[in-house]
Amino acid sequence: MRHLLGIGDLSRDQIERLLDRADSLAQLLERENKKLPTLSGRTIVSLFFENSTRTSSSFDLAAKRLSADTVSIRAQGSSVTKGESLRDTVQTLSAYGPAAIVVRSPFVGAPGMVTRWTDAAVINAGDGKHEHPTQALLDAYTLRNRLGSLDGKNVWIIGDVLHSRVARSNILALTKLGARVTVCGPPTLIPREIEALGCSVSYTLEGSNEADVLYVLRMQNERMAAGDNFIPSVGEYAKRFQINGERLGARQLLMHPGPVNRGVELSPDVVDAPQSLITEQVAAGVVVRMAVFYELLAGRGEPEGGQKRATAVAPMPDGATR
Ligand code: NCD
Repeated sequence: MRHLLGIGDLSRDQIERLLDRADSLAQLLERENKKLPTLSGRTIVSLFFENSTRTSSSFDLAAKRLSADTVSIRAQGSSVTKGESLRDTVQTLSAYGPAAIVVRSPFVGAPGMVTRWTDAAVINAGDGKHEHPTQALLDAYTLRNRLGSLDGKNVWIIGDVLHSRVARSNILALTKLGARVTVCGPPTLIPREIEALGCSVSYTLEGSNEADVLYVLRMQNERMAAGDNFIPSVGEYAKRFQINGERLGARQLLMHPGPVNRGVELSPDVVDAPQSLITEQVAAGVVVRMAVFYELLAGRGEPEGGQKRATAVAPMPDGATR
């Protein structure tokens, strides 16, 4: 594995290998000293062109726990947009010879473009509404810890599926691991032909009480244009699709990638209910992202160029160095 651009590129074996790696890293992290020397002397650059709390902090912590040096760049709104400026930024930062570049972008396919401009391994931390592979891996890891195997498990993904990269990556990951996935929401928020990814579709919550897992999504207002009317009103949406204490069974597990809009997709009380895995998902983010760095980088030497080119010290004719 050279880059991690999407779950679509991974086989079941590759996903399971990453989850197994995360398991063994989690065991190592139980000791008092949480730092491993694996990436000592190597640099990891994070480029976040969209807001992030959980994803950026856990990538950062994951890199630090593996002893890498980290550089984080955040560009908000229009200061860095697409095309040339992304390329310029990547090429500039590649001069430091990073081992990996983590990219979050509002543009579908941006991380794939970055692979053409750097020797570093590229990790997709979310590209528009396309994929968010490390989120799906940490969700699969969290579920595997709870349920053992995902084979035959019934997972409902509920809410704004249309704008959700988390939904897409999770449908791919969970079905590859043997789960049955149903996506649920109003027809305006379910993409056409989503069944092609291997899931079923439901436009009502009827039947969701049979699910082992309810995975609820945020209404992604930032991906909707002004004037788009995907739902009649937030109140109407909540009435039909909000997961509340009555709709969450005692033996069902509740997941959400965060950030939660309490009172919209989830009622405030269920966020902290015993069935909620939301905090476990956040904690899993660190070990799973460590596992991704480990798989992509451990045992692989520095790429040619970059730091080597930038820091090579030419010998002086008299044998001294400058
Ligand atoms: C998700 C994202 O950014 O795609 N959040 C996350 O990474 N934890 C989902 C969201 O923003 O609703």
